[in-house]
Amino acid sequence: SAEGQAVLDFLYENDEISNTGDFASAAGIDHELVVNVIKSFSARRIVDAQDIKTEKYVLTDEGKSYAADGSPECRFFLAVPPEGISPDALQKKMDPALYKIGRTQAFRNKWVGVENSLLRRKAIGKDDIEDLKRRKLIILKTWKGFSVRKGPEYTRDHKKGPTDITRDHILSGEWKNLKFNQFNCNAQGKYVEGGHLHPLLKVREQFRKIFLEMGFEEMPTNNYVESSFWNFDALFQPQQHPARDSHDTFFLKVPSTTKQLPEDYVERVKNVHESGGYGSKGYNYEWKRDEAEKNLLRTHTTAVSSRMLYLLAQKPSFPKRYFSIDRVFRNEAVDRTHLAEFHQIEGVICDHGLSLADLIKVLKDFFARLGMSKLRFKPAYNPYTSPSMEIFSYHEGFKKWVEVGNSGMFRPEMLRPMGLPEDITVIAWGLSLERPTMILYGYDNIRDLFGHKVNLKLIKENQICRLGIK
Ligand code: PHE
Repeated sequence: SAEGQAVLDFLYENDEISNTGDFASAAGIDHELVVNVIKSFSARRIVDAQDIKTEKYVLTDEGKSYAADGSPECRFFLAVPPEGISPDALQKKMDPALYKIGRTQAFRNKWVGVENSLLRRKAIGKDDIEDLKRRKLIILKTWKGFSVRKGPEYTRDHKKGPTDITRDHILSGEWKNLKFNQFNCNAQGKYVEGGHLHPLLKVREQFRKIFLEMGFEEMPTNNYVESSFWNFDALFQPQQHPARDSHDTFFLKVPSTTKQLPEDYVERVKNVHESGGYGSKGYNYEWKRDEAEKNLLRTHTTAVSSRMLYLLAQKPSFPKRYFSIDRVFRNEAVDRTHLAEFHQIEGVICDHGLSLADLIKVLKDFFARLGMSKLRFKPAYNPYTSPSMEIFSYHEGFKKWVEVGNSGMFRPEMLRPMGLPEDITVIAWGLSLERPTMILYGYDNIRDLFGHKVNLKLIKENQICRLGIK
């Protein structure tokens, strides 16, 4: 640029530009343009620049009009003739407002006095800065500029070099003589337009890593549509259970039923519901196949676990650790903490002789990896686990215990009809993905995180990773 070249030329002839303000006015260039050029040169070490800050008084708008027309007191002074004048006579000659302000100020300054009832001029003095400030005719302004010397990269005819080396530079050998532009590592990064991960995906990845580190295998979860059989019956959830009502569960219209169920296993499930077995009395009701065949949107990922445990029983091998993280659906009234569609995280371990102590130990390990090391357990009820425990974690930020999950040991009424050996016990737990994500990313309304009201800008602008926080 012309300003840039002017700066370089000046520094070629002179040791320094002592003040960019003076330089700009002497060269007839806008100071702002000189400042921009110096900032860019200085980042590339073409010049060394020192800040200069000076404070000076500048006229306010009112001050400017006085500077052009004269102040009221000055105009009053000049209106008084050297031989004096009566106040009445002067008042007739002057604008009333100007007369009033001018007289007050001129008297205060002792520029004009009264002698023998006539207004008479006295000596005119200098304006007092404090007085002008008080009257808001001037204000103090900071002025910023630089003093500038040559920097280590100075050359008189400075051309911006290329920033990146290209294939052509290498092929032609030109790269040997090129002066590459330095990267400015302090510049703000360019805004990335695509490929933003949703916070739920990031937290899901964190959970997935924890499970993998703990030796768990991921279960296939790609079936949102499930039969009531795998979602409820296989889990020893009786057919009259309120969760199986259409007020709680979304049932499918088309196809409304499933035809594929493992017949001998269905028979054992029917028996355990109706009359028990394996040390259980069962529920003593008439189990209906129609009810089990109804298709639904799975209400929990335990439907995935029941399928997997059934498969495992067909090819037993222990220990086995499984996990899943995927979407589930419940016919629920939506509010700031509930959605009809959310994600569940589930962990399952099958081995010989596992006990509640093992479950507690695994839960402590698992949650500690998320930074939740204070856990408490509360007895709970699930149709498919016994004993069952709700999991609470002490939230350091909220200073209270918050529920983070549900857990238990799967009942023999669930495991034995599948064909799992008698000494095999299965411990399991489940939690939502949304709750920890809301805590970690500071959301207090689930609808800001997931669903049709999500603001895409929030997704684009959330942190790539959370540093220093577990
Ligand atoms: N399925 C339970 C729920 O939806 C969670 C759970 C999983 C409980 C495994 C115990 C064992 O809340």
